Order: sequence, then C-alpha cells, then structure tokens
Amino acid sequence: MPGICVIGAQWGDEGKGKLVDIIGESADCIVRYQGGNNAGHTIVVQGKKYTFHALPAGVLRGKRSLIASEVVLDPRQLYSEMKKFEGELNLGIDPRTSIIMPWHNDLDNVGEESRKKTTGAAIGTTARGIGPCYEDDKNRSGLRFYELVGNPQSLENRIREVHDVKRKVIEQVYGTQISYDINKTVDDYISLGSYLKKYLADVSQEVSKALKDGKNVVFEGAQGTLLDIKFGNYPKVTSSHPMTGAVFDSVGIAPMKMRAIGIIKAYVTKVGSGPVVTCLDNGLWPVDESKSTPEGNYIRNKGQEKGTTTGRPRRVGWMDAVVLKYTHRLNGFSELALMKLDCLSGLDKVRMAVAYENNGMIFDDYPSWDTDFLNDCKPIYEEFDGFGDISQARTYKQLPKSARNYVNRIEELIGTPVTVISVGPGREETIFRKFKKF
Ligand code: IMP
Repeated sequence: MPGICVIGAQWGDEGKGKLVDIIGESADCIVRYQGGNNAGHTIVVQGKKYTFHALPAGVLRGKRSLIASEVVLDPRQLYSEMKKFEGELNLGIDPRTSIIMPWHNDLDNVGEESRKKTTGAAIGTTARGIGPCYEDDKNRSGLRFYELVGNPQSLENRIREVHDVKRKVIEQVYGTQISYDINKTVDDYISLGSYLKKYLADVSQEVSKALKDGKNVVFEGAQGTLLDIKFGNYPKVTSSHPMTGAVFDSVGIAPMKMRAIGIIKAYVTKVGSGPVVTCLDNGLWPVDESKSTPEGNYIRNKGQEKGTTTGRPRRVGWMDAVVLKYTHRLNGFSELALMKLDCLSGLDKVRMAVAYENNGMIFDDYPSWDTDFLNDCKPIYEEFDGFGDISQARTYKQLPKSARNYVNRIEELIGTPVTVISVGPGREETIFRKFKKF
C-alpha cells in the first residue's frame, strides 16, 4: 500500500518525527498535512539533534518534502530553518497554504490574555498565531502562499488592506498596540515571497500522481488526536485536524484505504490546560514541579518533557488506554508505535488506566467534549512491575518480561499490534516487530 499516515494518538509530542524519519528511508515523498510551527519535531541522527517547526521531518533524508494546503505556514520561521539546514532541500509548498502574518501572533497573545480575564484560564497556546491564521482562512480573508509568491505590488496591497483591519481590532477591541512595523512587514514578506517562489508546487496533483504510480508516500501529522479542533478536548485544542481523515481534505487526494500508524508515548503528556485523567501533576497548568508527584517529576526529567516550541514543562501522566481506544476508533490505526518506553525505566511500578470511574459509574469510553465530567473522573489503573535500563534492547525478546507485559497489555486493550518500540532517541535505538516500512 503506497500511503502511510503517521498520527499522534494522544496530545501531541508522541515522537512522530523519529518514526517519520525511520520510514522516510524507504519513502519517495513525505507530506506534512496540518498544523504549523506550533509543532516541533526533534530527530537525533548519529548523536546530532535536529529540531524543526516548519520544515517537514522528511527533509533530513533528502526526500521530496511537501507542505499541503491545510498547513498554516510562517514564512519567517521556514526561512530561518532553511538557512540553518545543511543538506539538499527538495521542498514543495501548495499554493493554497495559508500564511501566518505578524498580526496573527499579536491576536494569539491578546486572545489568550482576554480568555484569562474572562474565563480565568487561557488555552496555553504556543503563541505562534495558529488559531488566528486558521480563523482568517475559514473566514476567507487570509493570505495564501500563491499570493505571497505572486506579484509584489498586489502582495503589498493585500498586506496593507488586511493590516488596516487587524490593527483596528488589536487597538480598539483589545486596547493594545501592534508589535510589528507595517513597512518592515511589507518588505520582509515581499523578500520572503521572492525567495520561496521556486518552491511552489501543486501538492494535490503531485501526490495524486505519486500514489497512482505506486510511489511510497508518508503523510506526517502534527500535534495529536486529542488536540483535534472537533474531537479533542475543545476548547483546549489546536485549530486543525490531526487525524487520518484529514489527510485527504488537506492534501487534495481522493479517499483511499491507507495504513495509519498511531504514535503513542509510553506515558502521556500535555502542553497547556484541559482534562488529563491520569495526570501526575495535580492537574496544574502551568506545571509547578514542587506540587507535582515524584513519579510525574521523574518521568518529566527522564523524558526531557519540555516543549520543543516554547520550552514549557509538559504535564505528565500514566498511559491511558481509555484515550487510546477513543483515538483508535477515530483514526483506524493499523498498528501502534510505542515511543520512549525507556523513559519509564527505573520506576518500581508502572501504571496504565484501563477505565474511568465517575460518581460510582465505571466506563471506558471517552466523552472528549465534556471537560467538567472528565475533570471529575478517576482513573482505574492496572499496575505493572517496573523495569531497569532497556536502552540496549534491539529485539523484543531482549526486553525484560515486565516491559513485555506492559506492551502486550496495550495490544490486548486496544486490539492493535505494537510494531515499533523506541528505547532511545537515536534511529538505531528501536525495536521492530514484523514492521514493514512500506
Ligand atoms: P496552538 O496550536 O498554538 O493554538 O495551541 C493550542 C493548544 O495545542 C495548546 O495547548 C498547545 O500547547 C497545544 N499544542 C499545539 N501544538 C502542539 C504540539 O505540537 N505538541 C503539543 N501540544 C501542542
């Protein structure tokens, strides 16, 4: 089957970048299909760490890397990553992709401030302008990539026209000042447009042809299913659809049966507020490590759970099979990749939620929309013996029995095989079990 999509099955940061990089070896083309530079991929190759926000992880393999229409693209960020990138860049950007402008960052910030004042809680966005950019796109007033790389005079007119409206909103509705200089913005975006022009590619047409020709295509998701604008914990979500079904809409290809690899971390993390039933941080956001549990701090430190984009400590919790069953239902995972299992080493006991209890009722489905209800749920855990250092294991048999019990139970509960187990950040620190790259 020529298409594989890689989907976050929790709240993002599951380790999709490492898997995309691994399967990218046998791919012809890698397509990033949603989100923007709110995401951050960290990939370690021969001890060297690479972090990308705007560039698809596939560029590390020198493969054709495409940015599809439902991505929101910050050309300033993209440019700075392209300048730092040492290898060959084989990049294509769809003309329909929406462009993040400086007013989107301002609106993201003032929106968060206003939420804090009115509801007492911000979302905890990455402040990258993601929500306001999607908002303009759906409102049919956003700038798109074909305008960025088109006629400079028309671009300037459009920037000034939209800026005029946004400035009024920022100043008159939110009572604050814009943070950017409009003349500099015009000059910068015209230069960025002329630099990026050569990367324009009709991604829909290119990927449709690649699939028809039997080429291997990886669809790289950002964030995770519980941050989905509809099926996540709204409103504590991002503004796009990090799910299998969204691939077709974003890329512009006809729906087809596709392998979907669900990426799960051996525990859960969440950046930002919202319900996390198995949370080990006393539900606090921002995290206050002095009020967290010892296990929460242990896992956070071992997993280096700090945001790639913002550097904020992530909330940490035990693995949650209730969440996984839900995200499996939404995405139809053909298999699971279990990342960062090594980060649980050294704990006496490891836990996994298999059901929730709320007001005497026990259940294992996930009402993603009902934040208050989820906040009142108590996890029902199964407990597993801990395990020591597993970073040298390269086959399933080399894992200690207690670690295998944990993996087997995930498979049993979700009804999906775990075909990849990551035991360290490097490409080679990976166990494959009947895993086919394509
Ligand atoms: P936004 O996408 O910046 O609007 O942020 C909305 C929510 O999604 C916040 O809670 C963010 O922390 C979260 N979020 C956005 N991108 C990521 C990601 O790549 N990993 C984890 N959380 C993310």
